[in-house]
Amino acid sequence: MSHLLITGANGQLGNELRKLAPVFSHHRFFFTDVAELDITHPDAIEAFFADNRINVVVNCAAYTAVDKAESDEATALLINATAVQYLAQSCIRHQATLVHVSTDYVYDGQACTPYSENHPAAPLSAYGRTKLAGEKAALNAEKTVILRTAWLYSAFGNNFVKTMLRLGKEKEALNVVFDQTGAPTYAADLAQCIMQVVEKDAKDELVRGIFHFSNEGVCSWYDFAREIMQMAGLTCAVHPIESKDYPTLAARPSYSVLNKAAVKKAYGVMIPHWRESLGKCLDELAASQS
Ligand SMILES: NC(=O)c1ccc[n+]([C@@H]2O[C@H](COP(=O)([O-])OP(=O)(O)OC[C@H]3O[C@@H](n4cnc5c(N)ncnc54)[C@H](OP(=O)(O)O)[C@@H]3O)[C@@H](O)[C@H]2O)c1
Repeated sequence: MSHLLITGANGQLGNELRKLAPVFSHHRFFFTDVAELDITHPDAIEAFFADNRINVVVNCAAYTAVDKAESDEATALLINATAVQYLAQSCIRHQATLVHVSTDYVYDGQACTPYSENHPAAPLSAYGRTKLAGEKAALNAEKTVILRTAWLYSAFGNNFVKTMLRLGKEKEALNVVFDQTGAPTYAADLAQCIMQVVEKDAKDELVRGIFHFSNEGVCSWYDFAREIMQMAGLTCAVHPIESKDYPTLAARPSYSVLNKAAVKKAYGVMIPHWRESLGKCLDELAASQS
């Protein structure tokens, strides 16, 4: 039995892990967010580890406001990197495993074939720089798994899918960028993958290192938006526009498709196509509204 500390548990990914916890009742879960355990406080982390005999941390806590980070990089760095160093230090003291989540925004988007984990990182944004610094901090723990993911969405929190559903009901037409290519990730699928990492760790079969995880398939934000409207039965038209016509404070990689061969080989995960997972999320959202 593992004693799992889930940080940032009120976020999208943390909530998906909460949903999965009953299936993995042979482990003991400690779900915390900033009110219960602020990961920028090393003494609090250390006390939590000692009090609860933590031997696995899944770090879902993060500063995820990508555009805001451009003007507040210090706070983003504190949460996305310095705090990860604190978690890594407690992991070392308690021989615990650290499962950390990172992002496709560590890449510059200049590739034209799917990124492998060993592709040089070159973040374009403050958020990407702080997440890359967080990866380096996480790797200081003895047993580290980093899952770089992309375009995360779920029925919880704010994300592209929920924004499109809202706008799709309010407007007759929308402009969405078609020149950023990637793959969405349903947070429920990532949570499943994380639990497979935890299960392997419990059997002493952890495969350490950096891995990529997103849903299968490739699309642009425009394709994704169109599919959301279609699946949700919304008549709102979606028009493709270029990123230069939708300026944002933080630059985004124009291509960030992730090669997932390594995570499939190491952890035997079956990854659904993004359309299949989008359908599940939309069903869940519809059920929660009925
Ligand atoms: N969202 C995406 O599209 C995306 C894409 C690629 C990678 N990722 C990565 O995936 C991971 C999970 O993302 P997510 O979308 O689930 O994030 P999220 O919904 O923003 O959740 C993050 C949670 O961490 C909490 N938190 C912030 N500072 C904290 C602190 N000092 N101590 C403890 N908790 C703190 C947040 O609380 P507050 O809300 O109160 O700040 C929030 O509940 C993150 O590492 C993120 O960088 C996300």
